[in-house]
Amino acid sequence: MFITKVPVKEIIELENHIFIIKLFSPEIASIIQPGEFLNVKVVDSNYPLLRRPFSVCDVEGDLICLMFNILGEGTKRLASRNIGDYIDVLGPLGNGFNLDGNFDIAIIVAGGLGVAPFPYFIKKIKNSKEIFSFIGGKTDKDIITYGMNNITVSTDDGSAGTKGNVVELLELNIKQFESKQIKIFGCGPNVMLRKLKEFSLTHNIDCEVSTECAMACGFGICQGCPIESTHHPEKYLLVCKNGPVFNIKDVVL
Ligand SMILES: Cc1cc2nc3c(=O)[nH]c(=O)nc-3n(C[C@H](O)[C@H](O)[C@H](O)COP(=O)(O)OP(=O)(O)OC[C@H]3O[C@@H](n4cnc5c(N)ncnc54)[C@H](O)[C@@H]3O)c2cc1C
Ligand code: FES
Repeated sequence: MFITKVPVKEIIELENHIFIIKLFSPEIASIIQPGEFLNVKVVDSNYPLLRRPFSVCDVEGDLICLMFNILGEGTKRLASRNIGDYIDVLGPLGNGFNLDGNFDIAIIVAGGLGVAPFPYFIKKIKNSKEIFSFIGGKTDKDIITYGMNNITVSTDDGSAGTKGNVVELLELNIKQFESKQIKIFGCGPNVMLRKLKEFSLTHNIDCEVSTECAMACGFGICQGCPIESTHHPEKYLLVCKNGPVFNIKDVVL
């Protein structure tokens, strides 16, 4: 784990007010794995005080790319950083996706900004696995396709793709994967992850998800990011240290 100040090399705004910030860090870029994250001090001042965690979205040589949209103070400040600014980052942190499992086809299920960890994931496995991406959003404006491939879309209001949520979309398409070795990789709002858990348990499909919660330290010290374990009810795992990627069977969502 490095704690280091790294320069902004590029910051781009995609459609839908999504930002990609590219940070130069050969040390971190050479070791970070899909699903791991950086804890970012978005400004040098004390406001906002806490770091904000961001999944690695992609790695381009020595550059680490993060994807975000403006939600509150932290992301507003991050979006206003300029090329050449130095940003204090901590990472790589957490446990990422297990890419070595016994599967031939990776099915990505992402809701809204839940696509963020997958461009790098796809880059890492595209030569050895087939990949299908199911992407959902409330409306067409919430569909993010940056770095994704083999995409099928759903929206709650039917303004793009199939009308309905992304787990319903997966249900409609799952037959084509019968008798294949598949594994699901998900990221998105909790309500989506809960539906995905029900789906994966019903169909008995292995599934890993990247979870989110508010964090402070990002590496297991403050105990501020608990998630309940299914194996030991009322015992808690830490999202930052034991996750953020979990087998969906292991956590209460
Ligand atoms: C492991 C991990 C990886 C993450 N990866 C990414 C990523 O790749 N890209 C990204 O944009 N964000 C990611 N997040 C969330 C990110 O850290 C911030 O919480 C989020 O961007 C909002 O920060 P903020 O300071 O702008 O908002 P705040 O000022 O903290 O909050 C503003 C408002 O947004 C709400 N809010 C805060 N966080 C979330 C959230 N996660 N989902 C929905 N509403 C929220 C708050 O309740 C509040 O109403 C990740 C979080 C975790 C734990
Ligand atoms: S954020 Fe401090 S223990 Fe997880």
